[in-house]
This record gives sequence, structure tokens and C-alpha cells, in this order.
Amino acid sequence: MSTFKTIAGMDFKYKRVLVRVDLNVPVQDGKVTDATRIERVVPTIEAIINGGGKAILMSHFGRPKGKVDKDFSLEQVIPAIVEATHKPVGFVDTDWVDVASAEAAIDSAPEGSILVLENTRFHPGEEENDPELAKRMASLGDIYINDAFSSAHRAHASTEGVAHLLPSAAGLAMEAELEALEAGLGNPKRPVIALVGGSKISTKIDLLENLVGRVDILVIGGAMANTFLLAEGLEVGKSLAERDMSGTVNTILAKAATSNCTIIVPVDGVVAHEFKANAAHQTLDVNAMDPQGMILDVGPKTVDEIKAAIDGAKTLVWNGPLGAFETVPFDAGTTAVAKYVAERTKAGKLVSVAGGGDTVSALAHAGVKDDFTYVSTAGGAFLEWMEGKDLPGVAALKK
Ligand code: 3PG
Repeated sequence: MSTFKTIAGMDFKYKRVLVRVDLNVPVQDGKVTDATRIERVVPTIEAIINGGGKAILMSHFGRPKGKVDKDFSLEQVIPAIVEATHKPVGFVDTDWVDVASAEAAIDSAPEGSILVLENTRFHPGEEENDPELAKRMASLGDIYINDAFSSAHRAHASTEGVAHLLPSAAGLAMEAELEALEAGLGNPKRPVIALVGGSKISTKIDLLENLVGRVDILVIGGAMANTFLLAEGLEVGKSLAERDMSGTVNTILAKAATSNCTIIVPVDGVVAHEFKANAAHQTLDVNAMDPQGMILDVGPKTVDEIKAAIDGAKTLVWNGPLGAFETVPFDAGTTAVAKYVAERTKAGKLVSVAGGGDTVSALAHAGVKDDFTYVSTAGGAFLEWMEGKDLPGVAALKK
């Protein structure tokens, strides 16, 4: 039984259903370049329109700072929604100050329509979670559904405030995401292994501290691993590292020891003197580092160690690449591990959950984005979930 309200059994007939989606998708030259977030909300939209209601989509797009700025208009995203739903989609312009004309447009649309309201961040009250704006939003719907996990870490009018003013529930994408995350960290099959990469420990202290208390094995990769190596007294040459963070590393290591969490840091790395594609490079053990070199990827011994640890795990959560995967050949470690996780998942041996913008790009680069149990399109929200924080947009949907 889920702890949050779902749309199961909801009657949409003749209802105006306000759906918070995340249309904050990448757009280049006026075209959506990755429609994954849109594709994921199609089942909820279909449930509403097939149930005889109107699906009124509401979202932010970019950061227009509380002002109407047509560069951030959601109108440019409409063709991608048409393509994903194979249905006509109407656009409802509003500055969110006066919603009377938006209300009239919604009322005159036939049942089964899909409508998109203009960017909620065109009004400063959105990010301030202004109760008056939340009321205006609520006046446009009879039911509120939140299908935007990736915005659920924001306590904004459209993600939190309005949820208290109408009968509300999680949409199908939000439900699937929360269930996958529950299987990843909430109530996982053990042992659980977490892979954490990225460049800086300073941005992931909360996450590391939460994880060591919850997972059985924590693998540290990316440039943040260099900071761990430094704290161990090893030299990392010219590698990216946070030299003033040894105290934090030691706190995390101490907490891991008391929580019986094994920490794996790289034993070897791919080292180059310059950071560019196909730069001359060599593989070195971390205790024999070239003082002029930079560690740009985990080495093959480390990859083998990670694979062996994955063999012993039943659940894996992953945030942050293990090396500079955008630049060949420093993608090799991340790609090898990603492929291995995909293989174990497909063999039914592993539940694998990954999230975060860079992580999703790294999995796509490795060609395995669809082979994990669940890949979250959320960035900040996924991180806050891994930090163990309560997300306001989810909390507002609790039963
Ligand atoms: C995201 O892309 O992570 C979400 O849409 C949230 O966007 P924000 O960081 O601008 O709130």
C-alpha cells in the first residue's frame, strides 16, 4: 500500500484536471532535444482524457525570475507534446495575475482536450509559494495531480501550495518513480551498493552522509574520489580535488565504519597531462601517481573491484559518473560499469536505479539507459531524495 494518494479509482468525467508536469526540457533552436520527461507523463494524460476529463498541464520552464519573458514560453514545447500524445494540444496564455481568460479558455474546450498553461514562473508567487497564486491555480481545476517528481523538491505554488486546495493525487509517472525509489533505498533488497561520482564532495556531503548509514557498500568515483585519496595521504598530482575537505572525508569514513558500510575508492586511475579528447594517457596505481598528471577516469583494476562488489549486491543506486565520460577515452570506466549493471539487471540479479542529469547522459552514452530497472529524469529532486530529505511536492500528496 502506498503512503501517497494515487489516481486509482478517480473519476475524471467532466472534470478539469490540473496536472503539474515537468516541461522543463532541453530546447535547442526552438526544438525539444530530449522529450523523455514529456513521454513519461503521457499515461496520466491518457487516463484523464480517456476518462472524459480535460487535462490541463501546468509547469515551469527555465528560470525567468518571476517575469513574463517569452523566451521562456511553454508554447515552444507544444509540438513535442503533440508528437508524444498524437493529439491536438491547446496553449493557454496567462500572466498568472488574472486568470479569468485562462478559465474561459478551459471552460470552452471540449471534454478530452489537452491544454498547456503558460510558464508558472512568469509570476514571482510561484517560487514564493504564494497562497493567493495557489488559489488562482486551484480555480482552474477540480482535481490536482502532480506527475512531476523532478520538481517535487521545490515548495512552489504549483508543486505544493495548490495540492492542499483541491482533491489531489500522484500521477502515474510520479507513482512509478516513487515506487522505484522505494525499491532503491526506502525498502531495498540487500545488500545495497551505491555508486557516487561527480567532481565535488562539497556538493554531496549530505548525500554521502545519508548513504553510509543506509547502504552496505559505497563506491566513490569521479574527481571526488581524488579528495578521498588525498585524505588517505596519497598524492593525486594535478588532479581535481578539494584539498581542504579531508576532515569531511574522515567524518564520512568514521560514520561508514560505525554503520558497517564498506567504502570502495579507486585503486588505479587513467592519468593524462592534458584534459582533451584522445590525450596521451597511462593507467597508474593510485600509490604510484605521476605528480604532473591528472586522474580522469577509474582504471581497470578498480572497474573489476566494482564489478565484484556488484556481483554481491541485490540493489544498486547510482548518481554521478565515475570519470570524465564526455571526453574519450576517459569514458571507459563509467561505460564498463554501466554495461555491467545493465547485464546484471537484465539477468534478473539486480534492481538498479539511477538518476541525475550527468548520470543519465553517461548511461545513454554507454547505450544502456533503457536497461536499468529505473532511470530518473530528475536532477535536484533525485539528489535530495538520495540525501534522505522529504520532498515538499511528495509530502503534499501523503494520505
Ligand atoms: C529540473 O530540471 O531539475 C527541474 O525542472 C527543476 O528545475 P529548477 O532547478 O529550475 O527548479
